[in-house]
Amino acid sequence: MPTLAPMSTLILETRKLTKEFKGFTAVDAVDLQVQRGHIHALIGPNGAGKTTCFNLLTKFLIPTRGSILFNGIDITGEKPAQIARRGVIRSFQISAVFPHLTVLENVRIGLQRFTGTSYHFWRGLTGLKTLDDRALALLELVDLRDAAGLRAADLPYGRKRALEIATTMAMEPELMLLDEPTQGMGHEDVDRVTALIKRVAQGRTVLMVEHNMKVISSIADRITVLARGAVLAEGDYATVSRHPAVLEAYMGSDSTELQGAHG
Ligand SMILES: Nc1ncnc2c1ncn2[C@@H]1O[C@H](COP(=O)(O)OP(=O)(O)OP(=O)(O)O)[C@@H](O)[C@H]1O
Ligand SMILES: [Mg+2]
Repeated sequence: MPTLAPMSTLILETRKLTKEFKGFTAVDAVDLQVQRGHIHALIGPNGAGKTTCFNLLTKFLIPTRGSILFNGIDITGEKPAQIARRGVIRSFQISAVFPHLTVLENVRIGLQRFTGTSYHFWRGLTGLKTLDDRALALLELVDLRDAAGLRAADLPYGRKRALEIATTMAMEPELMLLDEPTQGMGHEDVDRVTALIKRVAQGRTVLMVEHNMKVISSIADRITVLARGAVLAEGDYATVSRHPAVLEAYMGSDSTELQGAHG
């Protein structure tokens, strides 16, 4: 019988994680600690190193120094596919949406990819039915049940993103990474996707880069502020939004989101 390792409250940890590009330090000795079950936001002015940090976590980039631990296991040397198999899934990257296929077919492919079954392999009616049931349940979760038969290309932008979240969910992520999930959306879609993230975060962990402070203040359990590659502050929204260094860092950029959140 396999024995389960004791579950720590930390799902993800980085230790002195560093990325240099030709002498320029984009991520500078970052110690990140993400609690299991949290929605954890990574914020900071433009160029702070947020996306680079994400790219290190998902192995799109190799760190110059430092380490990454997932569930207490050092995954610094692992490849993107290995990380994905462990349940670290990044949305809007791994889960591409096929525009010419229907919404339902897209989610079904996500499920088949996860179970390792080729799309072209006929599994018999029973197998497909089960797959369809699961796909429909995922569509229900992201409010796309009524759009199941539409071509993905015909979905409005905000609902396309909901579909991307559904295809990510098909891979049963334990830790879901979202890089600016509300980027480019009108406020109605922003509210929808915010509620959606909150819903899909049930029973899993979400680490998200987000510029919209209203989104962060409404769903983030914990926030890490990066500036010039380093951690500037950490805490809940109330703590971080009043932090003098954070206010200064945002003032020094062209960003006004921090003030915008109070309006
Ligand atoms: N491949 C690269 N080569 C050289 N420099 C890079 C590379 N990728 C990122 N950088 C630099 O590293 C810094 C951090 O970039 P990064 O994209 O991580 O910032 P960010 O916090 O995601 O910013 P934004 O809010 O604009 O998305 C920037 O100064 C950027 O120019
Ligand atoms: Mg970025």
